[in-house]
Amino acid sequence: MKVKISQRMQKPDFQADFLADILKAAADPSIISFAGGLPNPASFPIEEMEAATQKVLQRDGVRALQYNSAQGYLPLREYICKRYKEKQNIDFSPNEIIITNGSQQALDMFSSVMIDPGDEIMVENPSYLAALQSFHLYDPVVLPIDLNPDGIDCDMLEETLKTHKPQFIYVIPNFQNPTGLTYSDAVREKAAEILRKSDCLVLEDNPYGELRYAGRAGKSFATLLGEQCCELGTFSKIVSPGMRIGWIACKIPEVLEKLLAYKSTMDLHTNIFCQMVLEQYLQDNDLDAHVEKCVEIYKEKAEFMMACMDKYFPEGTTFTRPEGGMFIWVTLPEGVKAVDVQYKAIEKGIAVCAGDPFFETERGVRSMRLNFSNSTNEAMEKGIKILSEVIAEMS
Ligand SMILES: Cc1ncc(COP(=O)(O)O)c(C=O)c1O
Repeated sequence: MKVKISQRMQKPDFQADFLADILKAAADPSIISFAGGLPNPASFPIEEMEAATQKVLQRDGVRALQYNSAQGYLPLREYICKRYKEKQNIDFSPNEIIITNGSQQALDMFSSVMIDPGDEIMVENPSYLAALQSFHLYDPVVLPIDLNPDGIDCDMLEETLKTHKPQFIYVIPNFQNPTGLTYSDAVREKAAEILRKSDCLVLEDNPYGELRYAGRAGKSFATLLGEQCCELGTFSKIVSPGMRIGWIACKIPEVLEKLLAYKSTMDLHTNIFCQMVLEQYLQDNDLDAHVEKCVEIYKEKAEFMMACMDKYFPEGTTFTRPEGGMFIWVTLPEGVKAVDVQYKAIEKGIAVCAGDPFFETERGVRSMRLNFSNSTNEAMEKGIKILSEVIAEMS
């Protein structure tokens, strides 16, 4: 049979092509993988979820198994608002929240509502690769804004806004994926001051914000900019990614209305059964205590990986020292390409993710992303040692 695939899906997808090989290789259980971004299964509240599931089915089984509203389960939206108030002193009303199928779906929803072909958008350089993929489907002109160790480059942001009219800027200010970097207070204030003078919306993605194991939290753009900022959140990194429950919080009625319209067309609503089970779990358990447990695991893993890197990495190899999240960003010695290291390392049983797919335009970069959340210490030490030998050989 002859089929015609849409132009949209036939466009080259550098990120997907780049990742296909490495993800396939990393699926082999004999490979030590630092390439993904999986939460550590030791953090999954399995028994608590079992209890919550039973309770939901006994208490409200019909509702759990029936169709529901596109916006999402009201008690869950209320919980999210309460947490915004408690943790960040931000006022969102449940009407301003849409429950999504992970924040990945929210990225697509926002793109669909905001981007016409040729519209400009700004992203951090580098940025979360699956966000770039979502944006690309809608054919924007992507303007990358460099990321410094203390956050987005405010001079470049200001210059770009002098000559361009981007629809929005996508930012991950806390423990960024891929770099692990966090914006300083000064950068947050300065970037907000620059953006406030424009009509550019801010899409602030904060999946890792609660996974902080050092330092203290800075102000979010939602706090600094109010309705100019739409906030993405998710339970993936603090409860379970498999439940696929995230949200978008938006204070602009016409944007919210279109997000909701698009969401209804896409999937009618997010799995109500899972929303209710998650909400029951949150009612019956102390999320702060659970997050603390996750933070303990990740702090120990991050410190162990950094200690191995300090011990084994050859001279000229540097890396970020994240205060939270799941990633470390490594810069290789002059002249060493991360893709070459990636391919050599996989031959030796170690999967890493070269930095290339996180950049909109740069290729053959010297940086790579390492994930520390899901390896045993033994595997981590072995993997970093082998990786160090590969880097040394190529230097
Ligand atoms: C920055 C960022 N945004 C969004 C997501 C998507 O998360 P989910 O769809 O599981 O909520 C991820 C997942 O790794 C991420 O790192």
